[in-house]
Amino acid sequence: NSNLRLSRRRLLGGGAAALAVAGTTWGAATLAQADEPSPGQAVVPFHGVHQGGVSTPPQAHATFVGFDLRPGVDRAAVIGIMKMWTADAARLTAGMPALADTEKELAVDPSRLTITVGYGPGLFTALGLQDRAPAWCAPLPSYPIDRLEDRWGATDLLLQICSDDPVTVAHAVRVLTKNARSLTSIRWTQKGFRSARGTAPEGTTMRNLMGQVDGTVNPAPGTTDFDSLVWSDGADQPWLAGGTSLVLRRIRMEMDTWDELDRPARELTMGRTLSNGAPLTGTDEFDEADFTATDRFGIPVIPPGSHIARSHRMHEGEQFFRRAYNYDDPPEGEETSNSGLIFAAFQRDIAAQYLPVQQRLSDFDALNEWTTPIGSAVYLIPPGCEENDYLGSGLLK
Ligand code: HEM
Repeated sequence: NSNLRLSRRRLLGGGAAALAVAGTTWGAATLAQADEPSPGQAVVPFHGVHQGGVSTPPQAHATFVGFDLRPGVDRAAVIGIMKMWTADAARLTAGMPALADTEKELAVDPSRLTITVGYGPGLFTALGLQDRAPAWCAPLPSYPIDRLEDRWGATDLLLQICSDDPVTVAHAVRVLTKNARSLTSIRWTQKGFRSARGTAPEGTTMRNLMGQVDGTVNPAPGTTDFDSLVWSDGADQPWLAGGTSLVLRRIRMEMDTWDELDRPARELTMGRTLSNGAPLTGTDEFDEADFTATDRFGIPVIPPGSHIARSHRMHEGEQFFRRAYNYDDPPEGEETSNSGLIFAAFQRDIAAQYLPVQQRLSDFDALNEWTTPIGSAVYLIPPGCEENDYLGSGLLK
């Protein structure tokens, strides 16, 4: 493999590239020195105040794995898992094989790999640490729109593994799950995707499988808004400072009945155009929606029951960061498609920021006719860690 890499680099970049390869054949170092690093060499730093995979521009592929602790697993054992996952994640995200990696060639192209760990309410119960979780860290209330299936339900632990390369994702999933198998069992795996890297210019808002531009109105990573909406300051729980929470909902799209809708009806359902995602009161994707505008008959241009009218914040605190992925799995039974959204919302406080919006959408949302929540889980996302430390140490130590 390193020979292949060398000759490719020589072809691309001549002497300087060959020199880079002589220094090291692995990941980050190659990226820093090569003339033209391949997208595969791109690295998201693992260590730091926050875990990766939240403010990271979404990679093309994601696998979410929900784990339950096996009976009798105690705090010391969970610390063991965390130390192992931290060590392996630090290496894999840098393009280095995990310790005892049995397929180490699969580790060389991280393609912006991030590995994000989450703790479900069940972990706190299992370890007798209930008083260390904020009160709002609990399953969402059940909503009349829900058709939840146990197989996509709450779990004790979560891994969110994202990369622009699906082979890299598969390898990281394999390494991290097999090393924890004596202490955990896998409850579910949810695989999601967005457009391949390079398909559209960087920063293009994704499209979901209903064809809509999805993710336009969203706090922007790197802004003070994002920081205060997403990252915990530790007021709830000191150990959570720099962490956040995740609401993970699996929402099926009813594609057969959605097909029966013509384009204007689809746009009225959302309140935005399909062509570029502009609000029906504007022309550009990022134009501010005007929920008060009416047409010449006095009818609101954006229907009050449309998805954006219902989900729009009623005050600044009702915001969260959406980082969703499409899923498109093999149809089951008589289905013609089995697609939807792995809806992922990050916020510092689920009760204050997320629940009011979810309640409104459950009360009414024109889109509900064509979407069905079938899975729901919540997690605390512990802060990141520095070298020599491990994820979750603030809670578990
Ligand atoms: C906006 C799709 C579920 C909250 C949007 C937009 C689309 C969309 C296309 C407009 C573009 C944008 O600003 O992103 C969907 C689909 C869903 C779904 C297909 C289910 C399959 C949810 C859920 C929530 C939610 C469960 C939260 C409980 C929001 C919010 C906005 C939004 C807050 C921005 C509203 C604004 O202020 O303009 N969604 N969504 N969505 N959605 Fe959803």
